[in-house]
Amino acid sequence: MRLLVLGGTQFLGRAIAEHAAGLGNAVTCAARGISGSAPPGTRFVAIDRDRPDGLVALGQERFDAAIDVSRHPGQVRRSLAVLGGRVGHWTFVSTTSVYADTVTSGQRADAAPLLAPVGDEVEHSGPGTYGAAKVACERAFSAHALICRAGLIVGPGDPTGRFGYWVRRMRRGGEVLAPAEPDDPVQFIDVRDLAGWIVRAARDRLSGPFDAVGPACTRRAFLDRCADALGSSCTTTWVDPDFLDRHGVARESGPRSLPLPLPDAIGDASRDVSATLAAGLRVRPLADTVRDTLRWLDTAQGPVTGLTAAEEAALLAAWHAERCYRPSGP
Ligand SMILES: NC(=O)c1ccc[n+]([C@@H]2O[C@H](COP(=O)([O-])OP(=O)(O)OC[C@H]3O[C@@H](n4cnc5c(N)ncnc54)[C@H](OP(=O)(O)O)[C@@H]3O)[C@@H](O)[C@H]2O)c1
Repeated sequence: MRLLVLGGTQFLGRAIAEHAAGLGNAVTCAARGISGSAPPGTRFVAIDRDRPDGLVALGQERFDAAIDVSRHPGQVRRSLAVLGGRVGHWTFVSTTSVYADTVTSGQRADAAPLLAPVGDEVEHSGPGTYGAAKVACERAFSAHALICRAGLIVGPGDPTGRFGYWVRRMRRGGEVLAPAEPDDPVQFIDVRDLAGWIVRAARDRLSGPFDAVGPACTRRAFLDRCADALGSSCTTTWVDPDFLDRHGVARESGPRSLPLPLPDAIGDASRDVSATLAAGLRVRPLADTVRDTLRWLDTAQGPVTGLTAAEEAALLAAWHAERCYRPSGP
């Protein structure tokens, strides 16, 4: 394939370009070149999607397939207007944050209701409009496009540091502070599995919406598998989200956070992905993702975001002092 990646200079876009080039496809990565570099074996073309004439460097080239990772409706509309007729198949990388119902488990991509999109005048997604902006982006594509709604993307190269927090924490061992209930679900997708599926789906010209994330497992199973993969000895103390709120622990990401979805976001962590698995998504064992992520964190000094060891120890002490101690594990 002659494949265009709109992006390709960081995390998922880069993994897609790298995987496609490794299969012998002719890959063009088009971006500003600010976030990072395009992978070896691909061609980089400098564009700026925020400028009206920002795509001229792509000339009149034709592509068998294009993959767009943008989150900004203005960028998506402009690239479709300029390139639309010269691309055989489009994939848009969207997100499970497009769904309106965040609490019901087992929802399917082909049936779940979406948020209302941001208005046509909106160029960029901003704080609080990420999901609605992605809905607007999705709507700009035709029914022949693949709409790939990714869940939490993890693995080597993750710039968010969320999954990395748990990998590093479980390696340290000892008493681990974890949010909410051990049987609450979590769902992840290794960036390399997602990239592989997207390239294959582009080749097969798959169309329509799919949730792209691995099958759900419980938080307890997730943490146990992390510890097993790393040969660590841990006990887990599960604490109420209310306690975390009262002690200023941020939800999901950032400094002083426990980066796992809480019960009010469980719909986003328990999606029915049987259609995606039937459409060829292959998910590697979690242990491989955990070990490879740790290797990358250690060698590349990758980011980790969450509680510091001192913050976690203080929170555990406060939790036990409130006499709500519920230990589990060995
Ligand atoms: N991380 C997760 O857990 C998660 C979960 C669900 C969905 N997603 C979705 O998965 C995708 C992740 O994509 P990603 O990892 O490749 O990261 P990303 O941050 O979405 O990458 C944006 C890409 O677009 C390029 N870009 C940004 N502004 C540009 C401009 N004005 N002109 C041209 N290019 C521009 C960037 O390169 P330059 O800066 O070099 O221009 C970069 O390569 C996104 O669609 C995200 O919404 C992520």
